[in-house]
Amino acid sequence: MPDVLQDFDVSDVNGSLISPALPTAFTPTGTPLRLGILASGSGSNFEAIAQAIRDRTLNAEVKVLIYNNPGAKVVERAKTFNISTCLLNHRDYPNREALDQAMIQVLHQHQVEWVVMAGWMRIVTRVLIEAFPRRIVNIHPSLLPSFPGVHAVEQALGAGVKITGCTVHLVELAVDQGPILVQAAVPVLPGDTPETLHRRIQVEEHRIIVAAIHQICQSRLKS
Ligand code: GRF
Repeated sequence: MPDVLQDFDVSDVNGSLISPALPTAFTPTGTPLRLGILASGSGSNFEAIAQAIRDRTLNAEVKVLIYNNPGAKVVERAKTFNISTCLLNHRDYPNREALDQAMIQVLHQHQVEWVVMAGWMRIVTRVLIEAFPRRIVNIHPSLLPSFPGVHAVEQALGAGVKITGCTVHLVELAVDQGPILVQAAVPVLPGDTPETLHRRIQVEEHRIIVAAIHQICQSRLKS
């Protein structure tokens, strides 16, 4: 199997794009990319990935969904796609490192190659990052490096920017930092509330998360 780690080169991917074109379908050759997805809440990004796989837009397989909040809506979504789920409730672990260690065990059990943080509202530690070096992506609802953190949409509105958007990036130790893979821009409209703006950003998120994973698949095929 090619060494995804060594062969993945950030300069290979499209970099920052506004409304990147989405792949239309994958060529049914090559092993599907084995994904582990981390999500904490609604899971609309999780569903966008699962649907793209079902539609054969993405040559990938979600081996496991890890979630940390009992009752999170993402679990219902996973059931409809017959995807294995695993609850790792952060409240049951003494610290972030212990939670990350438990996640690594589950991800390894499912032979996961790449990890997608799709609305994972926990800070990950060196423990997880070193287990999957340059093989973890995160989606964030702003045009990073602007507005990192949990209140990105509110902060964009507060700053009065006319354009915001969303970013998929490789995960590094510093929160919401790391090489940018794909971005999409979203205009801020008069009268926008955090809810209306976030809803429009999420439409773009669902596109760029799929586009980013497709880029990773393509990069792997080149090796
Ligand atoms: C997204 O807006 C993502 O950018 C942020 O958390 C939200 C998760 O949404 N990190 P969903 O659970 O995928 O619907």
